[in-house]
Amino acid sequence: MAGELNINAVRDSFTEALNGANSLQELDEIRVKFTGKKGDLTLLLRSLGKLPPEERKSAGQELNTLRDEIEQKLEQTGKKIRDAENEKQEISQRIDVTLPVKGRTSGAFHPVMQTMHEIANIMQGLGYSVATGPEIEEEFYNFECLNVPAWHPARDMQDTFYFPDGRLLRTHTSPVQIRAMLEYGAPLRIICPGKVYRRDNDTTHSPMFNQMEGLLIDKDVPFSVMKGTLAEMVNAFFGKSLKSRFRASYFPFTEPSMELDIECVECSGHDEHCRVCHGTGWLEVAGMGMVHPNVIRAGKIDPDEFNGFAFGIGLDRMAMLKYGISDLRLLFDGNVSYFMSGFQGEAE
Ligand code: PHE
Repeated sequence: MAGELNINAVRDSFTEALNGANSLQELDEIRVKFTGKKGDLTLLLRSLGKLPPEERKSAGQELNTLRDEIEQKLEQTGKKIRDAENEKQEISQRIDVTLPVKGRTSGAFHPVMQTMHEIANIMQGLGYSVATGPEIEEEFYNFECLNVPAWHPARDMQDTFYFPDGRLLRTHTSPVQIRAMLEYGAPLRIICPGKVYRRDNDTTHSPMFNQMEGLLIDKDVPFSVMKGTLAEMVNAFFGKSLKSRFRASYFPFTEPSMELDIECVECSGHDEHCRVCHGTGWLEVAGMGMVHPNVIRAGKIDPDEFNGFAFGIGLDRMAMLKYGISDLRLLFDGNVSYFMSGFQGEAE
């Protein structure tokens, strides 16, 4: 029978084509070749009508069987190819968790932050808690409460950045003295590390720098405790005793007032042209004094009952001294390699 011959030929050529199929695309081409509009199987189905009626039924059954067979095999082979492709992809994307990781550069604290933490630790060991205040401050806290009325010449000591509304960038951390007294009352022991701002810019001054305020308020606090506390702090920070000196000074918010100088790290006083100490041999690191009664009063504490001392340490100076950094501006520069090389020498 002509029909039967054709059916077997189509089955054979389908089986052969299928065995050679390696990709979904090839499989699709085979699907079109046999079951598409002009596909071999389709043509056979169409030619059924031309057969004599007595052959039509059995040929029709055979063709249906072949069609089912072809569809089933296409399906099976499709699944096989997809599985194989998935596996290939999985293998190519497999992550080897035993491989060593790529090198990472590790972060480190900025020398000033490190200094801040170290000094805060020392002061916390002496019973001080950390207080904070805003960097955008009211004149009232930055000056008025600190015994610096508007007419006071001491306002010129700190060239101030003002906002149009009269507020300012705090010129020191001292306003936190008032805020802490108002918030916690007496007795009191606080430090306040933070950024402060002045119109200044040279090798030893930057418009933004870091201070740490300290305030102790208690009954009958002697002057000697202030000197002892500062000396203790400096020695603990440097881990050795650097030459230091207390020098009489003036601040409107303390009376009497002193400044603490430390020997110049750059020249130890041997270079009269030293660009760090300008030949003086000393670097100012802190201002301090016994808190003025007016300031204690502004903090709503009775100055007849309580007294105390306050100090302000320049944290950037302390960092420069400890790490041998000769230009303050390097602290605010993006030149990381300078710091990575152990804080020594000149920046490129
Ligand atoms: N606020 C002073 C300054 O910035 C430092 C200081 C603080 C002095 C506390 C005395 C007491 O120069």
